[in-house]
Amino acid sequence: MFVCLCKNVSDRQLKQAVEDGADSWRAVRLKTECATQCGKCACTAKGIVDDALAQK
Ligand code: FES
Repeated sequence: MFVCLCKNVSDRQLKQAVEDGADSWRAVRLKTECATQCGKCACTAKGIVDDALAQK
């Protein structure tokens, strides 16, 4: 499922970024460019990343 339509970032890519070593929302954002345009996806995307970080 695409979370960020501006940058075409899916929930899978967000989780993968965490798997690959991103240890914060900021790090995932830098890596995927998620939420770097309109910002509408930020709340949902951050929730997904926080969940993924909590499961690490
Ligand atoms: Fe993610 Fe616009 S939908 S920045």
